[in-house]
Amino acid sequence: MKRICKSCHSTDWTNGHFAKLDSTIEETNQMTLAATQLMVEAWEKGIEDKSNPFDEAIEKLWIKQWLFYASSIRYASAMTGAPDYAAFKNGWWELSDTLQKMRNQIDVREELKKSKK
Ligand code: HEC
Repeated sequence: MKRICKSCHSTDWTNGHFAKLDSTIEETNQMTLAATQLMVEAWEKGIEDKSNPFDEAIEKLWIKQWLFYASSIRYASAMTGAPDYAAFKNGWWELSDTLQKMRNQIDVREELKKSKK
């Protein structure tokens, strides 16, 4: 694909663009992995039921992480060359916010579960 880009953009610019995109993908992968680890924790503790992984509150936060936020950041990086463009709108800020919300939901619901026993 780089060959096509180089018809108009310089070699350095093109290489830089794809290096930036690779690092955006790597960073969003890490944030998605962190969310998936929290999701697995919620399933293993019986806080949510993974028979349908897409229909409960923490599961929906997990889905937001990769389907909406990670994808939006990748889109911004690939199409504008500026991953920072996705700092606020559907982007980096939400990735960390969602991790925190997942952590909080797991902790609160674990306590609730204990108190019901
Ligand atoms: C036919 C010429 C042409 C080709 C081929 C081309 N581009 Fe561009 N590209 C442009 C022009 C012209 C602009 C500036 C547009 C503007 O400023 O409105 C641009 C802008 C961009 C921008 C936004 C950069 C910025 O700082 O605003 C990105 C990202 C980009 N191109 C990526 C690519 C990639 C990736 C490829 C290969 C898959 C590619 N382009 C192929 C002509 C081309």
